[in-house]
Amino acid sequence: METSAPPASERRHWKGNARREYPACRLSFPQKTRSYKLPLTDKFGRAITDLRISITDRCNYKCVYCRTGNEGAVYGELPFGDYLRMARVLVSLGITKVRITGGEPLLRKGVVDFVRELAVLRSAKGGSLDIAITTNGHLLADMAQPLKDAGLNRVTVSMDAVDPDRFARITRVPGGFDHVLAGMRAARDCGLGPVKVNCVLMRGFNEDQIVPFGMFAREERVIVRFIEFMPLEEDRVWAPETVITLDEILTRMAEYRPLIEIPHAHSETARRYRFEDGIGEIGIIAPVSHPFCGHCSRIRITSDGKIRTCLFSVWDHDLHELMRRGASDDDLAHFIRQVVSRKEQRHHIGEPDFVPASRTMVHIGG
Ligand code: GTP
Ligand code: 5AD
Repeated sequence: METSAPPASERRHWKGNARREYPACRLSFPQKTRSYKLPLTDKFGRAITDLRISITDRCNYKCVYCRTGNEGAVYGELPFGDYLRMARVLVSLGITKVRITGGEPLLRKGVVDFVRELAVLRSAKGGSLDIAITTNGHLLADMAQPLKDAGLNRVTVSMDAVDPDRFARITRVPGGFDHVLAGMRAARDCGLGPVKVNCVLMRGFNEDQIVPFGMFAREERVIVRFIEFMPLEEDRVWAPETVITLDEILTRMAEYRPLIEIPHAHSETARRYRFEDGIGEIGIIAPVSHPFCGHCSRIRITSDGKIRTCLFSVWDHDLHELMRRGASDDDLAHFIRQVVSRKEQRHHIGEPDFVPASRTMVHIGG
């Protein structure tokens, strides 16, 4: 299936392939059934084991670093059965971790049943999947236990300030902080842990929250992960100066309490640190100052059923269109293998030849 350019509403960010070459992926159905024993691997030898499925690009928050505040959902949503079929085929190819994303995934009715169905899948080696969700937490308090019961393993909550007023200014929704805090605690208390809290830092907005978040991690027994701001927003406000880097975060936090780095898995996005007294863990996700593309194990499916091989892809690959045309599971697997083999080597954030991604974060999934 041909790769697709973004719809008109997104095209103002899209500058085509002016500087770099992006080979269009024109694929046909395979001639005969293949046997897929080898795990999914790209041409750089990276094994793809981590799948993120966005189930909606709607969001009930309008975070200033993510959305303009004027635009709503842009892309469609598929029936859960379609995501499930995609997941099943991908799991047969070696996926072991599935993260449900959005938009805000808890807005989608039926998400608990979706988790239940995912939890039945077994990896190619026969084990259970690691099933996680990234949510803004606003609706989580009442859903944490049902999600846990359905087979969810872990929750990551996005939270960009521990000060309720600042939180409201960032999300542009009044009174959200208490809901999110309650949701995060409900997830922690029902065993959806370790609960991770993602905080995107942006200069001029919330860098003064670094130390309060350190205290929060210790008090609330959650892992707070600071994320360097990436150029994936609707408003095009990103500039190198807006990024609070790993080094800066470490310096600020060390003024509060000494940190000790702890080992992290190769494919993990975050560098991990614990406080010297053993209480509390923080992480830093530093795609801008310390890119981790060389160990990337991720692919994404968008809410409308496209495969994205990188957050910064300028093309996506229409898996759902193949399904609509009656492709068999083997056809889908063949397509996925070809798409994955062409996964981008790395992002080009901050470089002169950077071409913005064809979708912004809310329309990709985190
Ligand atoms: P676990 O390791 O399973 O806990 O998940 P994770 O760290 O992959 O999860 P999460 O969805 O919380 O991702 C954290 C953040 O890392 C995302 O919101 C992105 O900001 C960033 N991130 C995740 N994947 C990529 C990637 O492939 N490239 C880049 N540049 N950033 C990524
Ligand atoms: N840069 C880094 N992280 C981002 N997120 C959203 N937009 C950006 C960006 N431009 C984060 C959200 C959430 C996750 C899905 O991605 O805050 O934690």
